[in-house]
Amino acid sequence: MAWIVIEGPDGVGKTTLISLLRGSLTEKGIKVCVTSEPTNSPLGKLIREWLLKQKIEPPHVYALAFSADRYYHYHNVIKPALSRGEVLLQERYKESTIVYQGAMGLDLEWLELICRYLPDPDLTILLDLEVGKIIQRLKLRGESGDIFEKKDFLHRVRELYLRRAREKGFLVLYAEDLEKLHRQALQYILTLLEEKGLTRRR
Ligand code: TYD
Repeated sequence: MAWIVIEGPDGVGKTTLISLLRGSLTEKGIKVCVTSEPTNSPLGKLIREWLLKQKIEPPHVYALAFSADRYYHYHNVIKPALSRGEVLLQERYKESTIVYQGAMGLDLEWLELICRYLPDPDLTILLDLEVGKIIQRLKLRGESGDIFEKKDFLHRVRELYLRRAREKGFLVLYAEDLEKLHRQALQYILTLLEEKGLTRRR
């Protein structure tokens, strides 16, 4: 089993990258499970409907709601997939709470504390892109923008992600050219699988 998390601000291309990676790994005969947060659990749906549409006070509600969804996700989806020996490609995990809710002004130590009983993945890949380019992409998609897709907030999110990546040693990939990004991410994942004895390089 191998557990890979893709993180990054809205609009950097996490979903597209994951679907390309799923295709390439599946072609190699590797069993892949794709999952994301917020989840499709009743709680995840509530988060999407309620929290993402309007500003809720205090911001601690966000941290706790996303984290509750995450503990549910870990226990009911992530852990079972890993124990079936699958390669798990996951969009967003605890760094999303630390970074987004940290960017809302919450204390990072407290955010780390509520994530304490969630294990670390094998690899966290941070997709990075300048905020100006992110905003262009969000406009192209015609996204009306949830409460987290505002320019100043995206700046804080990007900076905090990059700081966390330096501190925690995440792999940072520049997300401008999707084909190149796919090639690079795939290479790192195949190396990881090889190290774990899960595949042979051709
Ligand atoms: P997003 O990945 O955009 O989900 P979808 O594309 O399925 O709607 O996540 C929704 C928003 O929630 C996004 O702006 C990031 C934010 N978010 C947090 O603030 N904290 C978290 O812990 C998570 C998982 C997401």
